[in-house]
Amino acid sequence: VHRARAAITRHIRLVEDFPSPGIAFKDLTPVLADPDGLDAVVAALAEYCAGADLIAGIDARGFLVGGAIARELGVGVVAVRKGGKLPPPVIGVDYQLEYGSARLEVPAAGITLRGRSVAVVDDVLATGGTLIATGKLLAEAGARVHGLSVIMELDGMGGREAVAAGLGADVPVHNLCGG
Ligand code: PRP
Repeated sequence: VHRARAAITRHIRLVEDFPSPGIAFKDLTPVLADPDGLDAVVAALAEYCAGADLIAGIDARGFLVGGAIARELGVGVVAVRKGGKLPPPVIGVDYQLEYGSARLEVPAAGITLRGRSVAVVDDVLATGGTLIATGKLLAEAGARVHGLSVIMELDGMGGREAVAAGLGADVPVHNLCGG
């Protein structure tokens, strides 16, 4: 975790006034584009995911680390996709965004989710809506959420509290850093 934090601090790019005025966007792209940064982040997240028998990476930046973590742990990976991307049949969940709504889906055929212990990974935890929707999706598919792990948890957005309220306080939430 220490090596990952150092890599994040070194490579993160702050973009002022994106996506809207007054917001400083935290771009993790350079962290993952750096070989040592990617290695450190994947190794640290893999420690949180150890013991799961499947990794679920969330659309889209969760994919970047999900496959690498799965390979590190010797398990498989599944993509949790935005609505309309996967062939049928799917299991989906709709959820509210600040403006409008969104949908996440996982395959309902070809892979077995029922009874699996699934570790969810993504780049950022902000309001928690995405992780809550993913947790509900996996529960509906009959899987157990091993834990929810992100590279960065944004401060002051109430995401962790929202996840505890939405999925239960017993679901572990891990981050490599705040921001
Ligand atoms: C970002 C981020 C997380 C989500 C976190 O993705 O990668 O998936 O938002 O926000 P939340 O905690 O408030 O739900 P985004 O929706 O921008 O989609 P993208 O990966 O397609 O850019």
